[in-house]
Amino acid sequence: MERVEQEIDRLIKEIDYDDVTHLFSTLAGGKRLRAKLVLKIASVNDESVLLAAIIELIHAASLLHDDVIDDASLRRGNASVNATEGSKIAIMLGDILYSKAFTSLVSFDKQIASVVSSAVTSLSVGEMQDVNLAKNFNDDEKTYLDMLYLKTASLIEASATAAAVLAGKDMASYALYGKNLGLSFQIIDDILDIVSDEKTLGKPAMNDFVEGKCTLPYIYLYHSLDDENKKRLVSLHGKKISSQDSIWIKTKMDEHKSIEKSFALAVKLSNEAKQAVLKDVELTEILDTMIKRSY
Ligand code: FPP
Ligand code: MG
Repeated sequence: MERVEQEIDRLIKEIDYDDVTHLFSTLAGGKRLRAKLVLKIASVNDESVLLAAIIELIHAASLLHDDVIDDASLRRGNASVNATEGSKIAIMLGDILYSKAFTSLVSFDKQIASVVSSAVTSLSVGEMQDVNLAKNFNDDEKTYLDMLYLKTASLIEASATAAAVLAGKDMASYALYGKNLGLSFQIIDDILDIVSDEKTLGKPAMNDFVEGKCTLPYIYLYHSLDDENKKRLVSLHGKKISSQDSIWIKTKMDEHKSIEKSFALAVKLSNEAKQAVLKDVELTEILDTMIKRSY
């Protein structure tokens, strides 16, 4: 991974603008899940390191824009760029990282460039769906999961698929692995938003629902409630939540096992991902670590 960090720094320096180099150096790197996947699937060589760096730049760009869209003040435990430098700078930094990534991506085989670039269209469509869904209380599981696939799983799927192409491995198995890893990863994230605290999350807890996002535990809870309680839950959607209401939600989720049901789906998806790459122990270990994040 040290090589990926160096490659990212090299690409940033090539942009040749001190403000960008400085601002980028203030960003926390995160888990680098996508880069790790690329290196595990395609092993470490010049091409895989560059591909991993490109995908991490795209991911960083998407988070910069996402924080503007969500009006978030924290990212990976630090103040977000939109909070410290304003939205204009955050958007432009995102554009610079994103376009730099694309400039490097065109040096790859056409199939790899196509897999990664079309995933960026998907994640952008997914983000737009997320914004639209947050306007009302969405209780439809399929609509929610389709959006999650586009917004989060598509880039993880593309990382695994592109790495498989690079290594001459079976694309379909790695695509399925990446897609299901991405979906279960996001479901675990949704769970952590409810069961964890700000210190651990690096962002405010129970914030999804306040932002209008009806994540899986809320969808499951809604369908378990009687009409009166359904109304109460819907009335709390998209607003700043009192500690009394947040306790009510958590109590009802306990009662109706909404977290357990969500967790069960994450485990099911993760097991399907495991089946796709059974021989690759390191890849199955990533799934186990991800599932363990939640307890
Ligand atoms: C985080 O979601 C957001 C994403 C995974 C994707 C965001 C995509 C875009 C803004 C499209 C633009 C893309 C580029 C490359 C410029 P979240 O808000 O649910 O998660 P969070 O809690 O980490 O903020
Ligand atoms: Mg966000």
